Amino acid sequence: MQSITEIKSLRSQIKAWRQAGLSIALVPTMGNLHQGHFSLVEKAKTMADKVVVSIFVNPMQFGANEDLANYPRTLTADKQGLAELGTDTVFTPSVETIYPNGLGVQSFVDVPGISMGYCGGSRPGHFKGVATVVTKLFNLVQPDFACFGEKDFQQLQVIKTMVRDLSVPVQIIGVPTTREVSGLAMSSRNGYLSEQQKNTATALFKELNSCADKLLAGQRDFNSLCQQAKESLVKAGLKPDYFEIAQRDSLKNATLDDENLVILAAAFLGEVRLIDNLQVDINNNNQEKT
Ligand code: PAJ
Repeated sequence: MQSITEIKSLRSQIKAWRQAGLSIALVPTMGNLHQGHFSLVEKAKTMADKVVVSIFVNPMQFGANEDLANYPRTLTADKQGLAELGTDTVFTPSVETIYPNGLGVQSFVDVPGISMGYCGGSRPGHFKGVATVVTKLFNLVQPDFACFGEKDFQQLQVIKTMVRDLSVPVQIIGVPTTREVSGLAMSSRNGYLSEQQKNTATALFKELNSCADKLLAGQRDFNSLCQQAKESLVKAGLKPDYFEIAQRDSLKNATLDDENLVILAAAFLGEVRLIDNLQVDINNNNQEKT
């Protein structure tokens, strides 16, 4: 596996692949890689001839009081895992390489509408930072495909919207969430949790499932379902940030006419903010959870 830190070397590698007629898939990450990230790499390998994984803890998407300084950095282990999977190139730029003039004067990409509410509501500026760095990575790598996890469902929809709105020539691939046996969605931030907290954290997925089951059983009072879920989360020892039922593609509040839904949730466990979601297909004749 080739390891690249500089833009010039990256561009010359991309050019060589392009001249050889090879297709490219990109997996953007912030490192501290786990099985969820690796599932994206596996998917990328099935899509394209060459796979580039970027590892960059992006300061632009962290709020002032968030965990940028403490974000887990495990580059050696990450590279080893990626090499074992057969990744072609890992791109690990410095902050100066990505933002040479500092963040104060950095041009940015904003994706209004879909960035509002949910994580965008709780983390102002977060999706602006995500959309900007992902645009830069797309311009640097010029991939045919880019893989993103459904675990960060709003992020996936923000990126799909940005690509559509700005006619970016890349196909966005959503990859299902990888979970622990307990159901807990894998996340780099799970490393902040004790074993006991990990156990408590499983309540988030349990409540998503319980809400999905109620929807499938025909309950349609969305507000009351979300309220019940939040109360159960509090009982389990979590502090709910949001728990909402939305239209899957637009992320607008679900209406009684919608069939393709997603339940989106975030909750704090101590200082750690957990997010998860569950897609539910409601069909009058044939109801099934996906
Ligand atoms: P990061 O949190 O490192 O996640 C990188 C990618 O892995 C994202 O697409 C995320 O949705 C996916 N992922 C994380 N946990 C997953 C799981 N349990 N199952 C499936 N996929 C999972 O998301 C980011 O970084 C950043 O915002 C980034 C897109 C790299 C921009 O900086």
